[in-house]
Amino acid sequence: MIEELPISKWRGPFDTDVKARALDALESGSVLYFPQLPFLLLESEIEFLDAKVADGKSKNISLDHTSGKMQASSLTGERAARLAAMIERFGSSAAGLVRDLLPYNHVERARTSFRPVQVKGRSYSKISDDRLLHIDAFPTRPMHGRRILRFFANVAPTSPRHWHVGQPFEEFAQRFLPRVGPHFPGKSWLYGKLGVTRGQRSLYDELMLSMHDAGKLDNDFQSTSPHRNVIFAPGSCWLVYTDQVLHAALGGEFALEQTFHLDVAQMASPEKAPVRILERLSGKALV
Ligand SMILES: [Fe+2]
Repeated sequence: MIEELPISKWRGPFDTDVKARALDALESGSVLYFPQLPFLLLESEIEFLDAKVADGKSKNISLDHTSGKMQASSLTGERAARLAAMIERFGSSAAGLVRDLLPYNHVERARTSFRPVQVKGRSYSKISDDRLLHIDAFPTRPMHGRRILRFFANVAPTSPRHWHVGQPFEEFAQRFLPRVGPHFPGKSWLYGKLGVTRGQRSLYDELMLSMHDAGKLDNDFQSTSPHRNVIFAPGSCWLVYTDQVLHAALGGEFALEQTFHLDVAQMASPEKAPVRILERLSGKALV
């Protein structure tokens, strides 16, 4: 479930054995853990380890690396530019590592985020509470079966980041797939037309969103389904397919995160992708 890798540099070349182990573990639904790979802040960036750099409305500050636009920070001017540069430096480092470690030809680099607010003690609706076990599914960005791969760094000086990691995706799907169905006819078409979503949701997106919500709303599942406590030490990183691995973030502050998207066809074992598992279980094409 947790595959610890002895990597201590951000760029390859990496050992062939390490690369093979990383690929197999990642696609099989393990979290790749890099305890010896700190993302180091510059002296001038230490001041950003402060919840007040967030605007107080969103949980995460996000950066679009293609436009350089940063959202949800309270900072302005020169300090905002330096924070954006820190997030960008992390995002490009994460992209370099993913490129050198994994054999995928094309991994799309999506948004980069900085999560400066302590996870514990915040209040949310159940659906948006990521302290509950869930798989990631984007409400506004249909994926059509494409994968969500996320690279995290704990940049807190002393606080660990605490996760729960749950049962394999197929067991989760067997439990929830029979309870969820397609959204009402026309809803995904309308959302696409109105621009609520970036394009129209596929049946896959509808099922993933419904399973995400049903899992969070099921108190019995949350309290009794098997899970493991995972502690990500300060100065460590981890990489995980969050559309496949059931996870809950229970505590921690000051994490950086880079999201990647990739096509199922790029995978060494495409049959392990959520879309292929759901298609097999439901007996129909979902994208
Ligand atoms: Fe998540």
